[in-house]
Amino acid sequence: MASLPKLLSPLQLGDVQIPNRVLMAPLTRVRATEAHVPTSLMAEYYGQRASAGLIIAEATAVCDGASAFGNEPGIHNGAQVAGWAKVTDAVHAQGGRIFLQLWHGGRACHPQLNGGALGVAPSPIAITGNKAALPTGELEHQAPRELSLAEITGVMHAFRSAAANAKQAGFDGVEVHGANGYLLDAFLRSSANQRTDNYGGAVENRARLLLEVVEACCEVWGGGRVGVRVSPLNSYNSMKDDSPVETYSFLAERLNTYKLAYLHMMRADFFKAQKGDVLTPIRAAYKGNLVGNMGYTGEEAEAAIVEGKLDAVAFGTSFLANPDLPERLSQGAPLHKPDSSKFYTAGPAGYTDYPTMVKA
Ligand SMILES: Cc1cc2nc3c(=O)[nH]c(=O)nc-3n(C[C@H](O)[C@H](O)[C@H](O)COP(=O)(O)O)c2cc1C
Repeated sequence: MASLPKLLSPLQLGDVQIPNRVLMAPLTRVRATEAHVPTSLMAEYYGQRASAGLIIAEATAVCDGASAFGNEPGIHNGAQVAGWAKVTDAVHAQGGRIFLQLWHGGRACHPQLNGGALGVAPSPIAITGNKAALPTGELEHQAPRELSLAEITGVMHAFRSAAANAKQAGFDGVEVHGANGYLLDAFLRSSANQRTDNYGGAVENRARLLLEVVEACCEVWGGGRVGVRVSPLNSYNSMKDDSPVETYSFLAERLNTYKLAYLHMMRADFFKAQKGDVLTPIRAAYKGNLVGNMGYTGEEAEAAIVEGKLDAVAFGTSFLANPDLPERLSQGAPLHKPDSSKFYTAGPAGYTDYPTMVKA
């Protein structure tokens, strides 16, 4: 019998009371339609995982023409709002809470998925470290188109209207996706941003778009129902920052003013190339709830909360493979292994067919 009392205890996340600190991390699963409309299969999947303290639903496009995977969901038209309403209903019917991760794929968006249009970015620098994962297979990324100042303002407005759509769809809040080399992260980290205007150069300029988006989302939702996700060390999508501690300490201090539900930090690098401790300086700089992620076991998550390093932990691949993860952790039950061959495929296999524990 595992004893993880802090991990399984309630927490006030901004305006949202959660019954345990086992969050479900956002996971792109490409089970929406080709028109990026959430399906009833997605409602079943998220409903199965409603015992999470909070579900953070997968990266969801805030505007048309920003597809990086194909069949990922959007939240910019009525059909998509109606599809997501089925998902939020399913989660709420099971007593759960669900935020939506608002996303723009930026330079990871491939022309083949977007009617021939290039991806967009702060600067015309292509991703070279990994390929684009299209439904038809992997392809080299192409150099993106640099956004004009007017288009940057348009991006902020797209996030604002997507945040309003998420409210209409019945979500409990939104998470701004500022991680993993997508558009907001490409502005933030120095390797992808060579602009010389107000959105490039010094950290306060590189952070400007992310902060404008956060502010827009807070205007729609109130800060207590907005989270922000960042990945200071992740080199996925050719990302690097010259001084991650300085960049993210600055960001954390600025985010303090919004009194957010939480700041969500990915602590490591998918490719294990960039290393370092970003959690400690961010914990010192950030005054609100800090959510950690990447490679946590229940025991390590419990220890991090007991030691005051984190307030909650988001679990990705283990939640994907264990719909009743909080219950399993509380009982010390064995965990199913995720089947990575089904992460980005269609249909229920490797999606809604992971079993829950048999009740005694
Ligand atoms: C299949 C898959 C899809 C993912 N999709 C997203 C996503 O939509 N948004 C995001 O911020 N991170 C995404 N991630 C990263 C996860 O949220 C998480 O950071 C990662 O799995 C590490 O956490 P873990 O060790 O608990 O699995 C994805 C990861 C995987 C494996």
